[in-house]
Amino acid sequence: MSCTHAPVDLTPLEPVLSDYAQTPGSLITILQKTQELYGYIPMDAVYAIAAATGDSPAHVLGVATFYSQFRFTAVGKHLILLCKGTACHVNGADGIADAIMDELGIGDGGTTEDGLFSLSLVACLGCCSLAPVMMIGEKTYGTLTPDKARRILRDIRKEETA
Ligand code: FES
Repeated sequence: MSCTHAPVDLTPLEPVLSDYAQTPGSLITILQKTQELYGYIPMDAVYAIAAATGDSPAHVLGVATFYSQFRFTAVGKHLILLCKGTACHVNGADGIADAIMDELGIGDGGTTEDGLFSLSLVACLGCCSLAPVMMIGEKTYGTLTPDKARRILRDIRKEETA
């Protein structure tokens, strides 16, 4: 993991902190609003929230990590939801996962360095007849093979860099 990162612009968070920081029991609300603003909970925001509320950063982090709704890394522009439900599993979802991870160099929950893709392994997406399935944005891709999955990702990358 890299230790160098561009500092997050905390300006959008300031009104949230001035509205809620002094209200007891509002830490979850602040965290929700932080995630709405940034798409995730940046560490810089954790420190800012701690400073504003008088809590320790460890406490803020402890509360945030307790709830699965909060995430701590930025989501890539294209979020890949790869189904690992039963039908997809028996139809080779593991091989698709390996191909995607190899193609993008990320694991489950990871985001590519260029910020283009994030990968999340999820439960049944409700279109088992198309197994194995992944969704990218609004689009569903079914009857995947490792090669087909790689091609889909390469096509998106090509479009993005065209
Ligand atoms: S198990 Fe994958 S869509 Fe249902």
